[in-house]
Amino acid sequence: MTNIFTTPIFYANGEPHLGHAYSGILADIFHRYSLLANSESCLITGTDEHGLKITQAASKSCTEVEDFVDRKSASFAELWSALKIDPDVFIRTTDRFHAQFVEKVWKKLRDKGDIYLGNYQGQYCIGCEQFYNKRDLVDEKYCAIHKTEVQSFEEETYLFRLSRYREQLLEFYTSNQDFIIPTFTQDYVVKQLKEEPLEDLSVSRINHKWGISVPGDENHTIYVWIDALFSYLSAIQKAGYNPDQLKKTTHILGKDILKFHAIYWPAFLLALELPLPKHLIVHGWWKVEGHKISKSIPETVVHPKAFQTELSNDGLRYALIKQKPLFRDGDLVQDSLKHVINADLVNNFANLVKRNNTLILKQLSGEIVGITDLDIECRQIVTEAEVKLDKVINGYQTFDILIVSQLLNQILTELNRFFHERSPWLINKGLTREHVSSTCFVVANVVREIAILYSPIIPSLSESILNELGDNRSASLERGCPLLRDISIKKVQSHFTRV
Ligand code: MSP
Repeated sequence: MTNIFTTPIFYANGEPHLGHAYSGILADIFHRYSLLANSESCLITGTDEHGLKITQAASKSCTEVEDFVDRKSASFAELWSALKIDPDVFIRTTDRFHAQFVEKVWKKLRDKGDIYLGNYQGQYCIGCEQFYNKRDLVDEKYCAIHKTEVQSFEEETYLFRLSRYREQLLEFYTSNQDFIIPTFTQDYVVKQLKEEPLEDLSVSRINHKWGISVPGDENHTIYVWIDALFSYLSAIQKAGYNPDQLKKTTHILGKDILKFHAIYWPAFLLALELPLPKHLIVHGWWKVEGHKISKSIPETVVHPKAFQTELSNDGLRYALIKQKPLFRDGDLVQDSLKHVINADLVNNFANLVKRNNTLILKQLSGEIVGITDLDIECRQIVTEAEVKLDKVINGYQTFDILIVSQLLNQILTELNRFFHERSPWLINKGLTREHVSSTCFVVANVVREIAILYSPIIPSLSESILNELGDNRSASLERGCPLLRDISIKKVQSHFTRV
């Protein structure tokens, strides 16, 4: 069964920034690992195009809302293509078949009695498209995320009987301890479910036309978050799967939208008697001088394409995962991103490959074949690498890609030390041919495995190295494939330029 990875669908109210790119890059890394390890994987992304937030942005730019969302949605599609991310489905909430899907869902919930007409009074943040209790606001007035004043609304609305699903949600969380990664986030959600009141949820807005109308009641529009969350299912359908595929679906999302994914989304699915997703991977924020990168604070906005030009695509991906634990927040400091790229990708990786492969080509005619007997130093470095490679696989399986990058870089550091100490370039200064060829043999083989396991994170650099080595079977992923294999190199090139 195919694994599915989703990004959140991005608000089409402005141009993409680095925080958005981060969600997309993470999802792409997990998707690529899944392709590598399981061969079947599907990546879903898209844009969230309805609601007040969007109409306000369109009218601010004096553009018809339809044209506005077309342009902004295209900006996201272009971003993914510029970042060499190739989604299988790009869903837009303005797609007709998505709207039809949401209408069907609404009718089912309504027929079941899970949606009823009532009244709601609350404080609404347009930035979050969400009602808040006063206790969740700063000074009872300001949204903690957007720092803007919320609006007080009291209006007729349809409500979803969220309270009905509290027990089932708790049961689900008890029997699925690793549903949310990291587990401290799951603990937080469970605590909230146990301790805080779970009020019924307002799921429609009155007199706001930009959205999907409530079937049978044109005065109301379906709440944007229902519209948005069900894009996961309409996209799964668009990819040709049935809702059962949710069991194999991993949602990647930022911590700001946790409640929607950890409480509302599972509750809707329980109400519809559909399977729940496999995992939620909840990441922290990139900040600039302590402030979350956000369209609402223009000084913080960092354009991903500018960064990509400066750091290269692989450099950007690598630095974003190496410079902060996925589950925590981190401050963006361009110089330290450059430093880590040059230290790890250029010095530790690309330079080692170039030096080793040049020796193989020039001193060993490009071939190292039939090596069966390795000396103790060689055996030791291979064994140490194998232990770490196992942990790399475990890192991917537990979505801890910081550990993955740290381990791969540690193996490279050890390999550089080994290469340096054995100095195979001194071939004409008294070293035996066995010493030289076994050194280059070990380095080439370990480096190949590293390139394969790095490929979800730095696809272009890995591909370039693997093309040179001409063999991309992985000993860590393929049963029966030995790590040490004959080496054949036809030409040598530089794989990565300093940033
Ligand atoms: N439209 C909703 C999601 C609906 S999903 C059914 C939304 N869109 S968003 O455009 O505001 O955010 C999309 C993603 O970008 C979220 O995962 C969010 O956490 C992420 N980021 C936005 N700013 C970010 C940072 N500064 N840092 C890291 N990621 C952040 O929410």
